[in-house]
Amino acid sequence: MKTLFHTILTLLFFEAISHTLPPLASSFPISPNFPAVFNFGDSNSDTGELGSGLGFRLQPSYGQSYFFNPPSSGRFCNGRLIVDFLMEAIDRPYLRPYLDSISTQSYRRGCDFAAGGSTIQKANGASISPFSFGVQVSQFITFKYKVLQLIQQDEDLERYLPSGYFFKNGLYMFDIGQNDLAGAFYSKTLDQVFALIPTILDIFQDGIKRLYVEGARNFWIHNTGPLGCLAQAVSLFGRDKSKLDEFGCVSDHNQAAKLFNLQLHGLFKKLPQLYHDSRFTYVDIFAIKSDLIFNHSNYGFDHSIMVCCGTGGPPLNYNDKVNCGSTANLNGTIITAKPCNDSSKYVNWDGIHYTEAANRFVALHILTGKYSETASFWNL
Ligand SMILES: *[C@@H]1O[C@H](CO)[C@@H](O)[C@H](O)[C@H]1NC(C)=O
Ligand SMILES: *[C@@H]1O[C@H](CO)[C@@H](O)[C@H](O)[C@H]1NC(C)=O
Ligand SMILES: *[C@@H]1O[C@H](CO)[C@@H](O)[C@H](O)[C@H]1NC(C)=O
Repeated sequence: MKTLFHTILTLLFFEAISHTLPPLASSFPISPNFPAVFNFGDSNSDTGELGSGLGFRLQPSYGQSYFFNPPSSGRFCNGRLIVDFLMEAIDRPYLRPYLDSISTQSYRRGCDFAAGGSTIQKANGASISPFSFGVQVSQFITFKYKVLQLIQQDEDLERYLPSGYFFKNGLYMFDIGQNDLAGAFYSKTLDQVFALIPTILDIFQDGIKRLYVEGARNFWIHNTGPLGCLAQAVSLFGRDKSKLDEFGCVSDHNQAAKLFNLQLHGLFKKLPQLYHDSRFTYVDIFAIKSDLIFNHSNYGFDHSIMVCCGTGGPPLNYNDKVNCGSTANLNGTIITAKPCNDSSKYVNWDGIHYTEAANRFVALHILTGKYSETASFWNL
């Protein structure tokens, strides 16, 4: 009797797991089995959200290497982003931005809530984006509520909108935190930035919890890249050469990124204990981008920090007063920031964002599976 009972329990137990966690090929870190993808983040994965939300169009140099028509894609890049390459890898259309009101794309396979300039912390007067992480999560909740209500009224809408099954079994992706750190350095010392990290991650965890409550079960978290290697950081914080490491990156900024990642990884290890029926993947973007920057010449790139689309000449070709594609009058001198001739030789596009060539490199490395870890309560 006891054995039978135990057998039944065991069977129920495995039933439960196999129902809650769809199969994932272990050698392949992102799977076409996920019916939809919902993405949250900043400009690293913004497919047009900030432009739609604030009503601006980027200069045509943005998107010039891939999105010809219309010439500007709303992406902070000359072409595709990491998330675009990941969607290509699983044979999906690019994610449509939540606030995009006019499009031929549908939301059936997911939606992108990421907006350039967004932080995990609540937006304040200095924020570029009002769409901080908590707002993005709220937007998702509104989206889901409206979608399910519409489908309930008319089942045919499942052709354009994600069904309840798609929400439950979808992949929830995150790439956010870079702007919290970058912004903090304008007013804080390194120790103060370090001290802020647990607060930032508490807010991140709160967003994960809200998504879990909504039924999200598959989480895919990118850590943050080497912030100190962006030309913007180097030009503003690296004038004193003693602030730079041997690769020409601002060491304080990279130390903050490393501590953020260490604590984010700690959270990643903790989450399965809180949410037993969920799966979490942590992707080490920092390692991939560092490898690309430090070993760029081995990978066919000529420049790691110098920007493709900028002005100011060597060593950085970057001037924070003139954005890529625009013209400014600097003390009587008219200066235009123009794209370089061959963006595939540059890691950095405009001082803050990576080129399409660099994004492709990062995505291909993610797809090897060597930079990701997956954890769930059942395999702790
Ligand atoms: C650069 O490449 C070498 C040789 O492949 C490797 O050992 C090293 O870890 C790379 N650097 C970074 C920062 O990844
Ligand atoms: C413009 O000139 C002022 C005064 O000489 C100087 O402080 C400032 O740095 C200059 N700005 C630029 C962008 O060169
Ligand atoms: C691009 O190439 C043209 C022709 O070779 C050259 O004149 C121009 O200076 C180059 N522009 C840049 C930004 O390197």
